[in-house]
Amino acid sequence: MGYRCINLLTIVSLLLLFPVINGWGIDGHLTVCRIAQSRLSEAAADAVKQLLPEYAGNDLGSVCSWADEVRFRFHWSAPLHFINTPDVCNYKYTRDCEDDTGEKGRCVAGAINNYTTQLLTYNSGSSQADNNLTEALLFLSHFMGDIHQPLHVGFASDKGGNTIDVHWYRRKQVLHHIWDASIIETAEERLYNSNVDDLVDAVQKNITNDWADLIPRWETCSLNKTTCPDIYASEGIKAACDWAYKGATEGTVLEDDYFISRLPIVKLRLAQGGVRLAATLNRIFQ
Ligand SMILES: *[C@@H]1O[C@H](CO)[C@@H](O)[C@H](O)[C@H]1NC(C)=O
Ligand SMILES: *[C@@H]1O[C@H](CO)[C@@H](O)[C@H](O)[C@H]1NC(C)=O
Ligand SMILES: *[C@@H]1O[C@H](CO)[C@@H](O)[C@H](O)[C@H]1NC(C)=O
Ligand SMILES: *[C@@H]1O[C@H](CO)[C@@H](O)[C@H](O)[C@H]1NC(C)=O
Ligand SMILES: [Zn+2]
Repeated sequence: MGYRCINLLTIVSLLLLFPVINGWGIDGHLTVCRIAQSRLSEAAADAVKQLLPEYAGNDLGSVCSWADEVRFRFHWSAPLHFINTPDVCNYKYTRDCEDDTGEKGRCVAGAINNYTTQLLTYNSGSSQADNNLTEALLFLSHFMGDIHQPLHVGFASDKGGNTIDVHWYRRKQVLHHIWDASIIETAEERLYNSNVDDLVDAVQKNITNDWADLIPRWETCSLNKTTCPDIYASEGIKAACDWAYKGATEGTVLEDDYFISRLPIVKLRLAQGGVRLAATLNRIFQ
């Protein structure tokens, strides 16, 4: 009993000390993964089905936030959810992809490359003993979402908006959380019957009706690479500067103007995350 209490206390104080830097909230990640799973080739759909844990019931969306749930158990994975730039609106892998001890490659772009490389061993069968490919799939699916959340490629000095206090309508929030969850939650309440399925449908319709011409460019990586996180991260920091940070300094009250102008950006990034996760998985599992 006593041991349990201490454990709980430790967890609670850890949560208070280290505000969680999540990436999209559960609904954002679910949207990315639902879109991706609907675009898989037969071979990729088969591989995903084989790799998903049984409790997921072949629904990638239901385990798309697994990587956030294991952040404390796998504490080595915490730096893999984001990138910090030295407070500039551009991104360079060699300069910015490192953890806070300076270890190179330990950021969300490095992690996307890492888990893509691991999954490429799926068909060879040989090194399957080395890596848990179920975990690789869940990490890749989650990080492809995170890298498309604009404030996951943000400034080091404010930890991607985690130290900027604003108000979302009447509620006090940090700016990072507005982009993880608040814009999506407000959209669900006002436009989508408080229902994540309706949000997914709306983004799917935009993909088919409005963005069809752009899809080939979203999917393509230069030099025939399997995945290209540096492109996604460069877009991310640009969106962070142009849309997330803009007009959202310490103490600002963000309401309809901000919500209405930023929701299309959130939907675009969710769509790009889903399309690119599918394209990457389709190239991995040929
Ligand atoms: C690569 O994946 C392995 C296995 O999960 C992990 O131990 C390592 O920290 C990862 N490195 C990066 C940069 O993602
Ligand atoms: C792979 O990882 C999953 C999720 O952590 C775990 O449930 C499963 O037991 C692992 N598989 C092996 C063979 O270790
Ligand atoms: C996405 O779909 C909604 C609803 O049909 C529409 O109002 C909006 O303009 C679309 N977005 C784009 C970028 O076309
Ligand atoms: C990309 O792959 C295609 C088909 O495999 C090949 O024809 C093309 O030359 C490759 N392009 C580059 C830049 O490697
Ligand atoms: Zn995350």
